[in-house]
Amino acid sequence: MITRRCNDRCSKCGIWKTPEPDSERIQLKNFIKCLQSLHNNLYKVTITGGEPLLFMEDVLHFAEESRKLNVPMIVVTNGSLITEDFLVKYSNFEHILVVSLDTMEKSKWNEFRGRNHYDKVMSNILMARKILGDRLKIQSVFADETRDDIPKVKTFCDELGIQHTSQPYMDFGGVWHDANVSSLLDNDMVCAARKNICVYYNGDVVKCFDHLRIPLAREPLGNILKEDIISILSKKRTTEITKLMNTCNLPCKWLSCNVPEPQF
Ligand SMILES: C[S@@+](CC[C@H](N)C(=O)[O-])C[C@H]1O[C@@H](n2cnc3c(N)ncnc32)[C@H](O)[C@@H]1O
Ligand code: SF4
Ligand code: SF4
Repeated sequence: MITRRCNDRCSKCGIWKTPEPDSERIQLKNFIKCLQSLHNNLYKVTITGGEPLLFMEDVLHFAEESRKLNVPMIVVTNGSLITEDFLVKYSNFEHILVVSLDTMEKSKWNEFRGRNHYDKVMSNILMARKILGDRLKIQSVFADETRDDIPKVKTFCDELGIQHTSQPYMDFGGVWHDANVSSLLDNDMVCAARKNICVYYNGDVVKCFDHLRIPLAREPLGNILKEDIISILSKKRTTEITKLMNTCNLPCKWLSCNVPEPQF
């Protein structure tokens, strides 16, 4: 997560309410150093936020490094800041772009996103489809609020031949309501988040974004400004937390980044 800053004000999400000051965001070179240390053991790297495209040049630079090291990358974006120039440069690296889209109805846009970006995002999606082809994906959040919208988003994606996925609503500090999908609670799928390494905008390292739910994981494992990532991952507490995650069975295991079969 390279930033908590965002240009949208989504009602599903509270990340935008606590943007980091400039002084807390680490420089891109620190993320790149981490990538260089770990690349042989990474099957992919995801850049998210906040809105990552607020730092478009950094994203492109990271995409280039990631390609050089042969690590597939995914950027998750609200789609409002995409430009043709960005898409042309990004397409050279053959990485994936995921645009978030929860409704096809312009009238809901202000309520869902807190900003009137509908026309911009929809035209950016069409442009991204032309330039990135199959490397453009669309993701929706399945909640009580979007029950009737998701099938329409799916139809839109099917018509354009864009892969569509949904992830269930979780508490990210937003005000939506979960869709009470009981199979999410009964299902015994093991959470795959134990394989993840999450690095925050300030360099703190955790194993999963929902680490606050695991008492032993509440404190970050370390910070890449102070310690090498390999030392952080080699700590006894990291191993203990990873073991706990093997049996952790909370609804957040259904987020795209935590399911065993990669969605993107
Ligand atoms: C937190 S956003 C950050 C990236 C970018 N700002 C965006 O919206 O795509 C990452 C993904 O989480 C989804 N998301 C936001 N709030 C959520 C929530 N409460 N539960 C589940 N997913 C959520 C977004 O729709 C997006 O696909
Ligand atoms: S979901 Fe993404 S676009 Fe919406 S407020 Fe959160 S970080 Fe911003
Ligand atoms: S179920 Fe949630 S808290 Fe537990 S390991 Fe998976 S993502 Fe983390």
